[in-house]
Amino acid sequence: MIFLYGPPGAGKSTVGRALAAALELPFWDADEAIEQRAGMVIPAIFAQEGEAGFRAREAAVIADFIAQGDGVAALGGGALLNAALRAQVEAAGAVLCLQAPLAVLLQRLAAAEGERPLLSTNLQERLPHLLAQRAAHYASFARQLDAAGEPDAVVWQAQIQLGRYRVRGMGAAYDALVRRGGLAQLGDLLRARGLRGPVALVSDENVAGFWAETAVASLQSAGYSTHTILMPPGEEHKTLQTVANFWEAFLAAGLERSSTAVALGGGVVGDLAGFAAAAYLRGVPWVVVPTSLLAMVDASLGGKTGADLPQGKNLIGAFYPPKLVLADPDVLSTLPEVELRSGLGEVVKHGIIGDPALFDLCARGWTAVSADWDELVRRATAVKIAVIVEDPYEQGRRAALNLGHTIGHAVELVSGFQLRHGEAVAIGTVLAAKLAARLGLADGGLVDEVTAVLHNLGLPTQIPAELDRGAIIQAVGVDKKRKGGKVKFALPRKIGDVQVGIDVPDWPQILM
Ligand SMILES: NC(=O)c1ccc[n+]([C@@H]2O[C@H](COP(=O)([O-])OP(=O)(O)OC[C@H]3O[C@@H](n4cnc5c(N)ncnc54)[C@H](O)[C@@H]3O)[C@@H](O)[C@H]2O)c1
Ligand SMILES: [Zn+2]
Repeated sequence: MIFLYGPPGAGKSTVGRALAAALELPFWDADEAIEQRAGMVIPAIFAQEGEAGFRAREAAVIADFIAQGDGVAALGGGALLNAALRAQVEAAGAVLCLQAPLAVLLQRLAAAEGERPLLSTNLQERLPHLLAQRAAHYASFARQLDAAGEPDAVVWQAQIQLGRYRVRGMGAAYDALVRRGGLAQLGDLLRARGLRGPVALVSDENVAGFWAETAVASLQSAGYSTHTILMPPGEEHKTLQTVANFWEAFLAAGLERSSTAVALGGGVVGDLAGFAAAAYLRGVPWVVVPTSLLAMVDASLGGKTGADLPQGKNLIGAFYPPKLVLADPDVLSTLPEVELRSGLGEVVKHGIIGDPALFDLCARGWTAVSADWDELVRRATAVKIAVIVEDPYEQGRRAALNLGHTIGHAVELVSGFQLRHGEAVAIGTVLAAKLAARLGLADGGLVDEVTAVLHNLGLPTQIPAELDRGAIIQAVGVDKKRKGGKVKFALPRKIGDVQVGIDVPDWPQILM
């Protein structure tokens, strides 16, 4: 459950209603419900029953919301002053505290005056005093939301704070959740979405060693029977043979059309298990639980599934969206450091594409970043979701995600995969910034800024001297021909703003 809280005028009802619509959840407004049940307006309740009477009614209404399950509830501005009620609410879900400057609050209350004359007039006089009195109380909530802006923007920031998104545009809409400790809730989350068993839990031997037990225990305690299906780790096993092995195991486990496959692992497991689910019995529901940083912020989002051929990566595949994406940042505790750093190549890229605050977070360097993955994963996830919702089938805007990839892919290939994907993307991103500066799209400061941030995260920023430039140029061409297009670049204009589809005829000069 999601509770919106904060001073009068912060927009709890407006934002709450819009947030509920965005997440396709029911919405409840505490003040409205109290008035409805009492059959009188709030000032009348205060007059007849005193504040104690009002608070008792408020507590009863909130207890009812909680009993109804998942949804968004807007609470009255003083509801959580009561410690017992606060504890009850915090145990039932996440509280977002909306804040806005006094002038904004007063303006909003004045605008609402027509609707609730008594309440708002009274409040306008009392508000400065009330805010001063409650400042520490409001500040004591961990999730704070600046609610001064336009509702749409505030609703998006609310989703980032909550790590909860609704992905639309390809097949049925589904939730993408970033939730610390979420793995232990896997079974309940499947139940809440009406998913059925038996569940095939697909993973690789590395990941399963650390996390399969938690996943299985959660599924079983939610009443699912489970079958764990393992593959050896590594891109070299991202083959159709592995997919065929999954299908055989699905059959042996008695998976039916209504059963569920769960992918627990990095991008390799996710791509393969998703593809296996897409084609098994012409499609069974699947859920993806990404366990690498790259899979959390990139591979698990967007519904692309597939396998490699000996001739090249990802040549076979299908668009097949999952029913749920569940990223638990706590599982990154076992991911090797090289994988974390490589994943950061994509995270920095996401910051450049669409979130200056994420870029700033990355700019704090490895020590700060690796101390707390939660916000970084929530923000990077949001950038990718914003892009794919706009362009699910990769016809336009989604090309922004290719920032650093046009040359990066070729560098990765020519290095014989000695460079990891995120490392090659880091190099490609610096080169994209250089191209942008050369074209006058961006200023030189951007190149220095991007280079410094990647370097401080331990990522390479130059093509290794020993790699053959001619081979890289050729590889870019082959890649593009295969995708049926000319070489077009996504180039950064500034942090948070990338232009797509740019033709740069003499781009190879940037490698020299
Ligand atoms: N579908 C898409 O849109 C998309 C996008 C980007 C990348 N991809 C694909 O993703 C793949 C790369 O993903 P990846 O980097 O996650 O590779 P990966 O799945 O090979 O995982 C990297 C390594 O980390 C291990 N690992 C993963 N999570 C762990 C954890 N929590 N603890 C310990 N070890 C863990 C894995 O066993 C593996 O050895 C590529 O095949 C790429 O094509 C797909
Ligand atoms: Zn990538």
